[in-house]
Amino acid sequence: MKKAVVIYQSKTGITKKFAEAIGAYAAEKGIDVQTLSIAEYTSGIAEKADYVFLGCWTSGFLLFFLQHPDGPWKQFAAGLPALSGKVALFTTYKVATGSMFNSMRKHLRMDASKPVVELRSRNGSISEEHKVALDAFLK
Ligand SMILES: Cc1cc2nc3c(=O)[nH]c(=O)nc-3n(C[C@H](O)[C@H](O)[C@H](O)COP(=O)(O)O)c2cc1C
Repeated sequence: MKKAVVIYQSKTGITKKFAEAIGAYAAEKGIDVQTLSIAEYTSGIAEKADYVFLGCWTSGFLLFFLQHPDGPWKQFAAGLPALSGKVALFTTYKVATGSMFNSMRKHLRMDASKPVVELRSRNGSISEEHKVALDAFLK
């Protein structure tokens, strides 16, 4: 059985909701899923998973530009080993994700030339579009 881990940072619960929805969808597809916050994460979990979802709420300046993950998420990302190839990123936001995904990739030291699955949601729900992206990722 393939394993997925969904790791999130959430302040008010919307990114947690999105993480749980992503996890529930992966579980429906027969994948063994663990969903946890960055505070609950212990080292080694990501390495053992076949799929790693990393998510954080969008933080930026005046909601329009210079978006980046929150400080604790950046620290968490710095402690992860290279995981390229099995990582999908997700975020929740109010206005626009702007530079959020680029910033997440930078903090994860991911190869900028390689495409990565990026899932964004305003309300933490997963859409049909997210499901299509997840179906392709969870092959
Ligand atoms: C300090 C702060 C900065 C934010 N900056 C942005 C932003 O630049 N763009 C945006 O679309 N939303 C921004 N938001 C909104 C949050 O990203 C959004 O409400 C998110 O869904 C919260 O996730 P959570 O409930 O998991 O904490 C900001 C919120 C806060 C508190």
